[in-house]
Amino acid sequence: MTSKEIRQSFKDFFASKDHQVVPSAPMVIKDDPTLMFTNAGMNQFKDIILGNAPVKYPRVADSQKCLRVSGKHNDLEEVGHDTYHHTMFEMLGNWSFGDYFKKEAIAWAWEYLVEVLKLDPDRLYATVFEGSPEEKLERDNEAAGYWQHYLPNERIIDGNKKDNFWEMGDTGPCGPCSEIHIDIRSEEERAKVDGLLLVNQSHPQVIEIWNLVFMQYNRKADGSLEPLPAKVIDTGMGFERLTMAVQGKTSNYDTDVFQPIIAKIGEITGVAYGNDTRKDIAKRVIADHIRTIAFSITDGQLPSNAKAGYVIRRILRRAVRYGYTFLNMHDAFMHKLVPTLIDVMGDAYPELEVQKTLIEKVIKEEENAFLRTLETGIRLLDKEIAEHKGSDRNELEGGIAFQLYDTFGFPLDLTELILREHGMSVDHKGFNVEMQKQKERARNAAAVETGDWVKVRDGGTEFVGYDETECETQVIRYRKVKQGILPGCPFQVAVLCRNGRPDRR
Ligand code: SER
Repeated sequence: MTSKEIRQSFKDFFASKDHQVVPSAPMVIKDDPTLMFTNAGMNQFKDIILGNAPVKYPRVADSQKCLRVSGKHNDLEEVGHDTYHHTMFEMLGNWSFGDYFKKEAIAWAWEYLVEVLKLDPDRLYATVFEGSPEEKLERDNEAAGYWQHYLPNERIIDGNKKDNFWEMGDTGPCGPCSEIHIDIRSEEERAKVDGLLLVNQSHPQVIEIWNLVFMQYNRKADGSLEPLPAKVIDTGMGFERLTMAVQGKTSNYDTDVFQPIIAKIGEITGVAYGNDTRKDIAKRVIADHIRTIAFSITDGQLPSNAKAGYVIRRILRRAVRYGYTFLNMHDAFMHKLVPTLIDVMGDAYPELEVQKTLIEKVIKEEENAFLRTLETGIRLLDKEIAEHKGSDRNELEGGIAFQLYDTFGFPLDLTELILREHGMSVDHKGFNVEMQKQKERARNAAAVETGDWVKVRDGGTEFVGYDETECETQVIRYRKVKQGILPGCPFQVAVLCRNGRPDRR
């Protein structure tokens, strides 16, 4: 099956079980102070789950654009380095709001995977919540009982609160969950090590594909749990991982979700995929990040200097730097991937095609803006890394990291990423001190109190700093200020430049 067929088959399957298939909500969230981006399919149903909005359809299914790059769910560091984490991914989900519960959720998940997609049942495992004395929650024997209809006891595994109690954020809907894991290793490897030992052990080929959450509680700000007005089923399946399993691949990036984009990167850069680990990582990072950036712009979040916009800018700069360092891309190129992305995902998300011109333009401008300072910043950082290598210090001074951030546009996590490649880290405390100082400076500059201008002679001013580093001047007017720019000089002066060019004004 192609990825497009898999996505459609999921929607068709749950439609056949009386679910209303709804569109994905935007990936960018504008009206929830607890979340910047949609990080799970259930986000758009949060008010219904909490009982604050009416239930329109008791059974719903969809494919939701999700982003996990900040807050409680953040996969950024793994992306590209492994084969199955992403910044943006699609989550296939089905919901019941006060309608069916664990029994049907488990039965239909099994039916879809084994009977519709024909995944080998011998390669599947289910986990159940083991309970938590401190939360006064018992083991989920009910879910375990239903799993026994499909799986032998030894492949039903107890899991702790971290893995088997799902929470949207620090507050909000939550509940015990059952995850379905799949072992996609070769028969030979499976014979050597029992898959049972590899579930939840970060093995790239024994991975979670579907999380069935049995929402029963609301986590309040004081940390306590209160029961929800009605029990809710919230399931989420990683579409890219599922496609990998169905298509018999061992990397999400080898599926038809990513291969066309990776091929296009190869065409643009002239670098083939599969020959060099570091170049392959760079390609995977870029193939992943272009999706995040394009979908964010489509959903109304442009790159910027603050909050959600800065998250997107950081991701774009990360991708540009991977291209620059490992694929020798010194000119803007990411915007050229947009048509290929639309070929792959435009059917399911037509908004991409509608916004194509804007997406390409914004990405190209962002790329160019960063490329203007990237080379100088990298040279500075390389010099620092070389100097540190000769010594026993493996921490970059906070002041340098701040200079890279402030003058060369290097987000702190990008500097950290580059340093990590050399076994180094950043002095965070020093960085934060510099950041604080800059905030003070900005505050003081904004709070300047001034006297009246005193005119000395006629004339206007002109900025000559692009051409000159020194210039003879005459004061044309001045005023007293509470906080001058130069320490110890409580005046602001306007000067007429006389650098041999008296006729210029
Ligand atoms: N909310 C759960 C998750 O995100 C299931 O949809 O994993």
